[in-house]
Amino acid sequence: MSYLRLAVTDRCNLRCSYCMPAEGIAYLPSKKLLSWEEMLRIVQVLHPMGIKKVRITGGEPFVRNGLMDFLTELSHLKDLEVCLTTNGVLLESQIQNLADLGIKSINLSLDALDRDRFFQITRRDDYEIVYQNLLGLIEANFHVKINAVVMQGKNEADILALTNFAKDHPVSVRFIEEMPFNGSGQLEPILHWNHQRIFSEIQQAHPDIQIMPGSIGETATKYQIPGFSGDIGIIAAFTRTFCGTCNRVRVTALGQVKTCLYDDGVFDLKEYLRAGASNEEMADTFLRLFAQRPLNGFEAEKNRKGVIQESMTSIGG
Ligand code: GTP
Ligand code: 5AD
Ligand code: SF4
Repeated sequence: MSYLRLAVTDRCNLRCSYCMPAEGIAYLPSKKLLSWEEMLRIVQVLHPMGIKKVRITGGEPFVRNGLMDFLTELSHLKDLEVCLTTNGVLLESQIQNLADLGIKSINLSLDALDRDRFFQITRRDDYEIVYQNLLGLIEANFHVKINAVVMQGKNEADILALTNFAKDHPVSVRFIEEMPFNGSGQLEPILHWNHQRIFSEIQQAHPDIQIMPGSIGETATKYQIPGFSGDIGIIAAFTRTFCGTCNRVRVTALGQVKTCLYDDGVFDLKEYLRAGASNEEMADTFLRLFAQRPLNGFEAEKNRKGVIQESMTSIGG
């Protein structure tokens, strides 16, 4: 395990339909969330155990006060890559500060390159600000990955529009299969757009698209189109084709450890911490949990106590 995904809040300023119902979810009271100090301690325990990369997720990380101070603390840890996944709404005033902290890579959730479709998906009218912030990130030389969940009847037109964005901009555009983590208790979305169909759609318009050699542990299968300054990725998040190289451990905003995205939490780290666990005890517990990991996302799903009902906003993706 070399990659920690840390959800720093369950709150979000958007209401994306694939993640939350329109009315939102019942947010946790803040004392139920891990504090910044507790999260820092978790990273400090995992870092010497081989965690080389930490991705800050949410909810939307920038809605929690204190994020920049926390990132500053993380930036002091040697040889730790710090990355963020954000919806980009609140980025504007922080782009330079993030660069100054040495953060190089930002994943931006952006499912549509059109104001109306963006509104239909996110239920908020923030397209312009997100688009400007996307350009701001590129301008500031961040390695930007655009995450777009592909949904029937909502953003099919954006498959080619977003692909085209990678022609003139040095970004990775990644199309994601929709997963059932939308907070509505919906067990299994009919997956209209699986990774093969997404690929065919792009290939029809760009017959010269070529697969790129992938790096171990990556979620996306990557493709290059000759003449494009960016690249294309397809993430089979629901089909789960990349479990064999999975190197990810998750800590949710509530302080649950997840050794697979599809499990329902395998350990209550927050209670353990608050009961006085030492760093050594925490490290031993992590080792035990890593050793007990399920083979893949299907096994993790089978081992759950109940059906998937949680919202992605409390998991962090
Ligand atoms: P990189 O660190 O840049 O490779 O990012 P990432 O793809 O791991 O993270 P990001 O937060 O950008 O997530 C992109 C999509 O991949 C989201 O829909 C995630 O939920 C999904 N994803 C990330 N990790 C996993 C995983 O371990 N399993 C599955 N099934 N999906 C994942
Ligand atoms: N299915 C697939 N991807 C999702 N994300 C959020 N909810 C879902 C879902 N139900 C993605 C967003 C975000 C990333 C962390 O997870 O695109 O960028
Ligand atoms: Fe890892 Fe589970 Fe995702 Fe598979 S589904 S890649 S095991 S987190």
